[in-house]
Amino acid sequence: MSINKEQVKTALSHVLHPVEKNDLVALGMIQDLIVQEKYITFTLEMPEQNDELANDLKKKCEGAVHKFIDREAIVDIQVGLNISKNNGQQKKTPVQPVDGGLLSGVKHIIAVASGKGGVGKSTVAVNLAAALARTGAKVGLMDTDIYGPSIPTMFDLFEAPNITTQKKLIPLEKHGIKMVSMGFLVDANQAMVWRGAMVTSAVQQFMKDVEWGELDYMVMDLPPGTGDIQLTIVQTVPLSGAVIVSTPQNVALDDVRRGVAMFNKVNVPVLGVVENMAYFTPPDMPDKKYHIFGEGGAVKLAEEMNIPVLGEIPLEMPIRESGDKGTPIVIADEHSNAAKAFIATKDKVVTELGKLSGKAPKVEIKFK
Ligand SMILES: Nc1ncnc2c1ncn2[C@@H]1O[C@H](COP(=O)(O)OP(=O)(O)O)[C@@H](O)[C@H]1O
Ligand SMILES: [Mg+2]
Repeated sequence: MSINKEQVKTALSHVLHPVEKNDLVALGMIQDLIVQEKYITFTLEMPEQNDELANDLKKKCEGAVHKFIDREAIVDIQVGLNISKNNGQQKKTPVQPVDGGLLSGVKHIIAVASGKGGVGKSTVAVNLAAALARTGAKVGLMDTDIYGPSIPTMFDLFEAPNITTQKKLIPLEKHGIKMVSMGFLVDANQAMVWRGAMVTSAVQQFMKDVEWGELDYMVMDLPPGTGDIQLTIVQTVPLSGAVIVSTPQNVALDDVRRGVAMFNKVNVPVLGVVENMAYFTPPDMPDKKYHIFGEGGAVKLAEEMNIPVLGEIPLEMPIRESGDKGTPIVIADEHSNAAKAFIATKDKVVTELGKLSGKAPKVEIKFK
């Protein structure tokens, strides 16, 4: 049986504020309540910052849901600060974590997005991360494509990550890239039934509860599409910029427009478009370029929308094969045309990031 909001409110009305002598629902402290089947999430709005009280109330809320509704319900509570209850101001400020902010040790966070699946978003994310790591930069890769996590396959990593005594997850590491994927934690069939709020909460945990340490770059593989889930993720993460992956067909280009619109809406700079599967070069005719899906579409579109083209990646069998075997092409064969195309894309991404901050990112470059 799925749970409804009224049941949750009734359960939470059993939790009393120790000083106000009233319950949390009556005090208006339960906000943004979302209930999806057995998953419950809301913001506990505190009139003043008091971590001890907030933690105590969180435990009591969870206990009330388990006692009055369902032992198995998943309760996810964010704590917010509502100063207006205190001094008449209208502003709602989220409580900042003690470490100074989410992913505060990460210099640049780059989202890799696409309008639809199968265009090579993960392939680009993985090779971009690998190309950055090759320069000696400290790189993280966060797979938020909960429905189709492909990072485990693309790195041939299927083990569960370790957890520290502080209950923080230690990212897996390969080829100098620290990574976390839902694919490490749940099996794909289980994730298929996840709804928006659960995905957002998982992404928040990937930011809060993972020992990322200091990173120069974090590359995020977003779920394909430009719907509510993607919009929520890009609002949740302090992104530096977005890379949009497309194939050259006109239909795919419409998706790029939607992608650009989504990032504009939340004021995340679009670094540019990567045209994947841009052309095919037969191995025995290295000078030929066959534009199987049409030519120049992404370039025209980028001009029209005033965004840069970050790279054109050829359609090549070794790209898929290396992905399936668990070693990105940039690492498996760094002298191949495909690897060169990804490395050139990385250079352009770094340049565009540099333009944003007004100076080139402070990353030590030590090529092999
Ligand atoms: N440029 C390319 N050349 C050959 N195969 C590619 C290329 N880009 C992606 N692929 C393959 O296409 C499939 C889909 O790519 P993937 O990166 O998983 O897409 P998405 O993350 O957008 O769903 C994968 O099997 C991948 O290896
Ligand atoms: Mg993918």
